[in-house]
Amino acid sequence: MNRLDTAIGTSAFDPAATEHLTRLFAMSPDLLAAAGFDGLLKHFNDAWEQQLGWPRAVMETKPYLDIVHPEDRSETELQIGRLAQGETIAEYVCRMVCVDGSVRWMAWSGGPGDEAFYIVGRDVSERLAMEHELAQRADRLQGTNAELQDFAYTASHDLSEPLRMVASFLGLLERRSAEDLDEKGREYLRLASDGAVRMRHLIDDLLTYSRVANEEPRREQVDLHALVDDVLAVLGPAIAETGATVEVGELPTLEAEPTQLAQLLQNLIGNAAKFHPPGRSPTVCVSARRTTGACVLTVADDGIGIDEADQERIFAMFTRLHGRDAYAGTGIGLAICRRIAERHGGRIYVESTPGQGSMFHTLLPDAPAAPGTPRQQAFA
Ligand SMILES: Nc1ncnc2c1ncn2[C@@H]1O[C@H](COP(=O)(O)OP(=O)(O)O)[C@@H](O)[C@H]1O
Ligand SMILES: [Mg+2]
Repeated sequence: MNRLDTAIGTSAFDPAATEHLTRLFAMSPDLLAAAGFDGLLKHFNDAWEQQLGWPRAVMETKPYLDIVHPEDRSETELQIGRLAQGETIAEYVCRMVCVDGSVRWMAWSGGPGDEAFYIVGRDVSERLAMEHELAQRADRLQGTNAELQDFAYTASHDLSEPLRMVASFLGLLERRSAEDLDEKGREYLRLASDGAVRMRHLIDDLLTYSRVANEEPRREQVDLHALVDDVLAVLGPAIAETGATVEVGELPTLEAEPTQLAQLLQNLIGNAAKFHPPGRSPTVCVSARRTTGACVLTVADDGIGIDEADQERIFAMFTRLHGRDAYAGTGIGLAICRRIAERHGGRIYVESTPGQGSMFHTLLPDAPAAPGTPRQQAFA
């Protein structure tokens, strides 16, 4: 039985089938050939001439290795050796030299035959050039990104010192000379101190954001229950002020960077206690559940809720939906949360109904198990 007949599923010699194959062979934009182990092409399509420029008459007598780039020849010989051993080749990329001396990158697949081997070549020069360009851009972006992060960190760090001076001299002025000032003067002093406090919060949040951005999280086993207790202790005064009730469900132990996870919970629980209508004490619920390969932490509240149109953009830096008079804040907290979730390979999102409340979910994938250690089963 003829090999080509088998390929198209006919068992007897069929002139029509041969005609189809011959036409397909001629039409293919890829380079197709049956190549001999004697170094010459036995049967090849017009794509060779169209793409590499070598006239058919030349290629009939020119060893194919001659048009392989000299630096790729020995590797190509190795690949031909593999075909001679009966192996197939999936994507071998080498440079071919065109008749005008230009070079093209071709990706070859090949399969063995009795007196010849079969090869298919595709020009991947553009694809490789594009990949190269993309890799270079990614490198450049990474460079500028790192520079920007350094800049943000240094700037916020260096702003801290003069701010500390401004705040302490304002305090001194208030203690020593407030009585010498008239009502207006005392009001100005108070506004200046408020400004300094706000700036302190902004700088602290920016520093936290830069730290999260710059440092690779060092994961360790974290008892989430204990962590939430610590966070509630830190938030104690703020929570007491709002009269919020915090309910904590059953929480697992998971692998995470403890300081970052605490930061995330502090921002989410702080927000949940903060964004509620005046005059009503909020209830905040902290819970967690396992899904396949991940843990989802949820901080829910029965506060003012968030319009669907705002549910994505609140995670961007400095986005606040309310004036400072309604709710204090810097607009950096959720940007920090998103960064932390992403640094752990996860993500954060919100479900909310305006007027009823919000649920912030943080999905944290399990850390890849270290080789040889059994995967930690955090909780059932
Ligand atoms: N639990 C919540 N309920 C309603 N709105 C929220 C909640 N959490 C965040 N938001 C909205 O998202 C904005 C951004 O939050 P965040 O980055 O923490 O900034 P901040 O708390 O400093 O205002 C908030 O100003 C608020 O408008
Ligand atoms: Mg906040």
